Amino acid sequence: MLSVSSLSLETHGNDSHGKNADGYRGSTDNGFDFTKLLELKPRAHPTIETQRSLDERSFSELLSSPRLRSTLETVKSSDCLDGLVTPSSRSATNTPRGTPRGTPRGSLNTPRHSFEPHPMISDAWDALRRSLVYFRGKPVGTIAAMDPTEESLNYNQVFVRDFVPSGLAFLMNGEPEIVRNFLNKALRLQAWEKRIDCFTLGEGVMPASFKVLHDPVRNSDTMIADFGESAIGRVAPVDSGFWWIILLRAYTKSTGDHSLADSHDVQRGMRLILNLCLADGFDTFPTLLCADGCAMIDRRMGIYGYPIEIQALFFMALRCARHMLKPENGGKELHERIDKRLTALSFHMREYFWLDHNQLNNIYRFKTEEYSHTAVNKFNVIPESIPDWVFDFMPMKGGYFIGNVSPARLDFRWFAIGNCCAILSALATPEQSSAIMDLFEERWQELVGDMPLKVSYPTLEGHEWRIVTGCDPKNTRWSYHNGGSWPVLLWMLTAACIKTGRPQIARRAIELVEQRLSKDGWPEYYDGKLGRYIGKQARKYQTWSIAGYLVAKMMLEDPSHLGMISLEEDKKMKPSLTRSASWPPHRF
Ligand code: GLC
Repeated sequence: MLSVSSLSLETHGNDSHGKNADGYRGSTDNGFDFTKLLELKPRAHPTIETQRSLDERSFSELLSSPRLRSTLETVKSSDCLDGLVTPSSRSATNTPRGTPRGTPRGSLNTPRHSFEPHPMISDAWDALRRSLVYFRGKPVGTIAAMDPTEESLNYNQVFVRDFVPSGLAFLMNGEPEIVRNFLNKALRLQAWEKRIDCFTLGEGVMPASFKVLHDPVRNSDTMIADFGESAIGRVAPVDSGFWWIILLRAYTKSTGDHSLADSHDVQRGMRLILNLCLADGFDTFPTLLCADGCAMIDRRMGIYGYPIEIQALFFMALRCARHMLKPENGGKELHERIDKRLTALSFHMREYFWLDHNQLNNIYRFKTEEYSHTAVNKFNVIPESIPDWVFDFMPMKGGYFIGNVSPARLDFRWFAIGNCCAILSALATPEQSSAIMDLFEERWQELVGDMPLKVSYPTLEGHEWRIVTGCDPKNTRWSYHNGGSWPVLLWMLTAACIKTGRPQIARRAIELVEQRLSKDGWPEYYDGKLGRYIGKQARKYQTWSIAGYLVAKMMLEDPSHLGMISLEEDKKMKPSLTRSASWPPHRF
């Protein structure tokens, strides 16, 4: 079966000694070979259940109905927690990593890091379970934040991107049911017609978030979703569909249950997402053109164009979908389109987004106004536009994928998700992956400081802040998306560290988190150059800060979990292209 072979496909880069043919050496300070991690064994099989709901409505539909508005109230997980926690959840509460049901340890002789369970772990599990959201008695997601002191706005919803670390935590703890329910629910929502004013969005768009409302009179649950039509700025989340595919693969890989990914509806859902992001247009680049605010950074922050955050997720989702998509019903044709796109995308990113000392020096010496195929400075970047900070920031050892590349515009900012995800998806070559990790070490104060991890670096301030953010009072310098520090990113950093065989870096970051996060009430983000202050408008009890910590801890304790969220380099993707591959031009 395809899905079975896809498991082996993803591990084909290893030789029989567990040494990666690309030269990834995972041997670490404790002698453990991290390259074996991708041999993750499937965990427990959940029961299979698919449920359609007629009570699912769109936000706009609901909000325009005064009757519904007045009678519906948000379902608090605590209202139904008692009767609904599954036996496995109960067994894991307070003993989160004990030996929860259905979590075999993988085939490896995994080393036990002598972790004394940190008191934060059981607090975190309790808080994570309190954040569960139920739809008709079944857990379908986790609420974004449970801060009783702040106005909830949309933080009382289940965000697709926010659920990813929650989902991974549950998978790692042998509780896949909630992830399965979540994946199914998001799929149902994808099928809705989505409109903003008179305009209809593409069929495959996945929601940014959804909410379950309880009608106490009729004792029924209703779901509403936001595809961008209610979000501040009215931007559709490009990342949601990609995260959904990535979580689907994590679920399949972790449980060994292929029935969900193979099902007709899920295959269709994947095809819809792929058709959206692989559609032909006016593009001259293989990267995906995006509006500002279409991902985790969901406000105007100058990431429009070809943001690294989306390109890395796009690459990862394409690779995950390639493994799960069956050839029937147009799947074969999509396989070919994915393969071509992956080749072009990896070439483009590795060539044009990559920056290290050498490349910075090249750009600094660029000639401009070059015409024709012989151009070295293809995008006509004017060297004077290189910001001063990047010359100081760039170490002799290390490098990163810059924020954005488009005509005459290189955004030199460093972004966390894009760079960590480039490592996990193998968009970065092994050399680039280790250079990204070198940068973490060389620029620890700037990127990690007192609280991991900066979402972007450096900050925008003064005139630039005014122009780029539109004077956003939430994104003032070193705050929120504008150089703020987000504890949720710890899980991605930890996964990248394990993959590159440098777990000691993750341990250092986790130690910092353990000094403050729980005491501070699990804030959403921290402010300041070093991330020393609880964010100005940060929510407390932010679920993904909690789940991110748990995932980081569990991965470090049992590195075989990494296989859920990491892909090996695909040898076939080594581009044979050169910079002038389009030469000679067609002649008439
Ligand atoms: C903020 C973040 C966004 C997150 C949401 C819910 O809007 O910018 O990334 O998904 O909060 O936590």
